[in-house]
Amino acid sequence: MPARPTRAQGASSPATARPLAALLLSAILSACGREPAADGPLPIADQGRAAYAACAVCHSKEDPSAPGYVALVGPSLFGVYGAKSAHHGDYDYSKAMREANLVWDDATLDAFIANPHLVVPKSRMSFAGEPDAARRAALVAYLKTLK
Ligand code: HEC
Repeated sequence: MPARPTRAQGASSPATARPLAALLLSAILSACGREPAADGPLPIADQGRAAYAACAVCHSKEDPSAPGYVALVGPSLFGVYGAKSAHHGDYDYSKAMREANLVWDDATLDAFIANPHLVVPKSRMSFAGEPDAARRAALVAYLKTLK
C-alpha cells in the first residue's frame, strides 16, 4: 500500500484549503438552488411519513395479525384508510369509537385529525389535533400507503 501524505507534507495547507472550501460551498449552494426545480418537493406521502411521527407514539403501522406485532396505546393504523371506524377486532376501543359508525375516507380522516373530539366526542384519543391542512393532507396520503 503506498504511503499516504502526512499533514506535514501539506495535503491541506490553509492556502489550498480556502479556495477548496469556497468551491465546495458554491457547489452546495448551486445544488440547493437547482433541486426544487429539478425534483420538486417531496412526494406528499413522504411528507406524511415525517408528520406521522406525531402519531407513532400511540399508533403502530404494522399489521396487528402479523407475528411480532407490538400493541401501543392506540390501535394500529394499518389498513385504516377506507375501513370502518373501530375495525381492529382485537383492540379495546372506547364505546364512543365503537358507536361512531364512520368510514375512514379523506373527509372523515381529515376532520378527525384536525379535531378528534369534534368528530368522535368522548374518543379516548388524547391528541389535540393538527391545525395545518397541508400536514393533514400529507398524513392522509401516508395513511393510504399503510396496507
Ligand atoms: C396519545 C396517543 C395518540 C396519538 C398521539 C394519536 N392517537 Fe389516534 N388514537 C389513539 C387512541 C387511544 C385511539 C382509540 C380511540 C378510541 O377508542 O376512542 C385512536 C384512534 C385513532 C383512529 C381511529 C382508528 C380506528 O381503528 O378506527 C385514527 C384514524 C387515528 N387515531 C389517527 C391518528 C393520527 C393520524 C394521529 C397523528 C396525527 C393520531 N391518531 C395520534 C391514540 C392516539
